[in-house]
Amino acid sequence: MLSAEHIEKSFPSEGADVAVLKGVSVHLDEGDYVAIVGRSGSGKTTLLNVLSTLVRPDGGLLTYRGANLTSAAEKQLNTIRKSDFSVIFQFHHLLPYLNVLENTLLPFMGSFRPVSTELEHRALNCLERVGLADKARRLPGNLSGGEQQRVAIARALVKSSKILFADEPTGSLDRNTGEQIMGLLAELHGEGLTIVMVTHEPAYAKLAQRTIEIEDGVIVH
Ligand SMILES: Nc1ncnc2c1ncn2[C@@H]1O[C@H](COP(=O)(O)OP(=O)(O)OP(=O)(O)O)[C@@H](O)[C@H]1O
Ligand SMILES: [Mg+2]
Repeated sequence: MLSAEHIEKSFPSEGADVAVLKGVSVHLDEGDYVAIVGRSGSGKTTLLNVLSTLVRPDGGLLTYRGANLTSAAEKQLNTIRKSDFSVIFQFHHLLPYLNVLENTLLPFMGSFRPVSTELEHRALNCLERVGLADKARRLPGNLSGGEQQRVAIARALVKSSKILFADEPTGSLDRNTGEQIMGLLAELHGEGLTIVMVTHEPAYAKLAQRTIEIEDGVIVH
């Protein structure tokens, strides 16, 4: 479904380029649930961002359902991102001046058309799944860190995408809420969603079908 071959990525640091991904290959099948683990700074977020097309690799090949994404124009990438990919970021990026429901509907707010009642119902349903239906009209600033993270998750769910890319989705959550979110991911996976999740938590990585371990930009396991 999604295939990355020999991906290389460097970032400039203090005048020199530092290699962050050094020939990484990852293959995702339809319906996969993969956990990416590794130390802080090992390249997990960078790898996830390359897979979700948010970061263009310097070398290697990324293909999605047969289409070459490495050489694709931004416009084509945008179409795929919009229809097929959902992302939960390590830092959740909620807009402070939009309420919870509006933040959840953000993927649909690109145009001037108001969102349909049906979409709003779907967003409320996603908020209910993450336990926040009663806070739909609040601003993010009035929510706890874990609640904000759950809004970000609802936002990723409101699209019916094919792949969910989740970067530490339980990072700022207490154990209980974290487990609730992992239960939700398992449920979504059961419904056919393909999931790639970065996590620090070994117990959560075990819930995935397989684990990819990255160390200093190289897959070691
Ligand atoms: N935009 C960037 N510019 C320069 N360096 C970057 C950039 N993004 C990442 N890096 C560097 O690349 C390395 C890997 O970063 P990355 O965010 O992928 O790590 P990570 O495994 O997700 O770490 P963590 O577990 O702390 O989130 C780090 O040394 C980081 O400083
Ligand atoms: Mg990271």
